[in-house]
Amino acid sequence: MLLPPSDWLPQAPLEPLLLDWLISAGIEVAILRLDQIDPLISGNKWFKLIEHLKAADLAGAEGIISLGGAHSNHLHALAAAGKRFGFTTVGLLRGHLQDTPTVKDLQAFGMQLHWLGYGGYRARHEAGFWQPWQTRYPTLQPVPEGGGGLRGARGCMQLKDQIVEQLSTLGWNDYEGWWLACGTGTTLAGLVMAEGGEHPVYGALAVPDDHGVAQQVERIVQEAGLADPAYELFDASRGGFAKVDPLLLEFIEQTEQDIGIPLEPLYTGKALLALKQQVESARFAPGTRLIFIHTGGLQGRRGFQ
Ligand SMILES: Cc1ncc(COP(=O)(O)O)c(C=O)c1O
Repeated sequence: MLLPPSDWLPQAPLEPLLLDWLISAGIEVAILRLDQIDPLISGNKWFKLIEHLKAADLAGAEGIISLGGAHSNHLHALAAAGKRFGFTTVGLLRGHLQDTPTVKDLQAFGMQLHWLGYGGYRARHEAGFWQPWQTRYPTLQPVPEGGGGLRGARGCMQLKDQIVEQLSTLGWNDYEGWWLACGTGTTLAGLVMAEGGEHPVYGALAVPDDHGVAQQVERIVQEAGLADPAYELFDASRGGFAKVDPLLLEFIEQTEQDIGIPLEPLYTGKALLALKQQVESARFAPGTRLIFIHTGGLQGRRGFQ
């Protein structure tokens, strides 16, 4: 059994985001705190995993084998879920043996690790990549990097339900759109599917263009049969994935001081800074109400300290 008890449905708080630059522009933003759903199984990762776990459970698998880097939020959440709910986890890691805080946690959660080197990891999209691993671990279900694909996106559709239930606590009866960080675009695709064109979803790209987020989103929404997807992508990578600069770090520090919400520099920090830039260039009319998603990832911050 890979699934949590039926009463384990993480509810993320939805809170007003009271920042000077929003208030002065007359834009209202509420932040969906996915970083708060659980101390370990945090962020958008749980939602991206849930449909993969259901499929594995249906197939009678005893656990999950998946991929990621030495700071991977996905492997961290997967390993924590395996330990919590009692299923086997195996992680295939990019590069060579490293002893990061994330890797230490993966081991402590009981995940079996294999280091693939860089070339070995690059082969993950090749046909036949999984075959030797399936021979070695026949009872485990492979899950793509980051818990992506249509299944990952389907799990994120329930994020819409979470905010709809809480809008009245903010005194809102509607909202104009979503703003969130994109790494693969899976979470954004799930929201686009849940919205079915009702509200647009704005994605702040934490990775450069050549990571193919736009193509991946297109592929997922097409697979889901969505005719008229409503979304827009903005470059927020600031020179590359995981590249940080003084302006970003200063912005994060100032924001944390102002509102007491922890951010991390790879996704949520970059997404919020990109929103500030769009607000300051009058992309949104005064009175606009947006939902900003805190996608978690705070465990990965340890790699930057
Ligand atoms: C903390 C965090 N936020 C956002 C994302 C982006 O999510 P997605 O890959 O679904 O676009 C990721 C992972 O890629 C992440 O770890």
